[in-house]
Amino acid sequence: MTAFTINGRKVDVAAEPDTPLLWVIREHLKLTGTKFGCGIALCGACTVHVDGAPVRSCQTLLQDVAGSQVTTIEGLSADASHPLQQAWIAEQVPQCGYCQSGQIMQAAALLASNPQPTREEIVEHMDGNICRCGTYGRIISAIERAAQEA
Ligand code: FES
Ligand code: FES
Repeated sequence: MTAFTINGRKVDVAAEPDTPLLWVIREHLKLTGTKFGCGIALCGACTVHVDGAPVRSCQTLLQDVAGSQVTTIEGLSADASHPLQQAWIAEQVPQCGYCQSGQIMQAAALLASNPQPTREEIVEHMDGNICRCGTYGRIISAIERAAQEA
């Protein structure tokens, strides 16, 4: 058993210690907002926070999060009230939507450490999150909006 906290809830997970955190989140804990894209840390669809830092959960092992605080898109706010979630709605960012929870979690980590990022800082921070629908312009606009309104 591996114990950690997810979205403020303590859990004990019975899985092999080298199980990818992404599968623990989706299959064991049934939190399906976090997506599988590439499986090799190249797309960002699986991004969650571990102790506040954005990580690729496809390449993070269960044993790596023992005793840690994990936050997924479901735990970012109780009612979609996070400034980024509101900005995402206002800017109508998603197209197919598949990459978007990873995009929001990556952006949330930026605003937590740098509440007023420049456009260049946003572009640099979001660089590893791929969107095959090409919503990059709206993602940047939404982050700028959230920073202004936070
Ligand atoms: S699924 Fe983890 S980075 Fe692509
Ligand atoms: S909205 Fe479709 S992959 Fe990003």
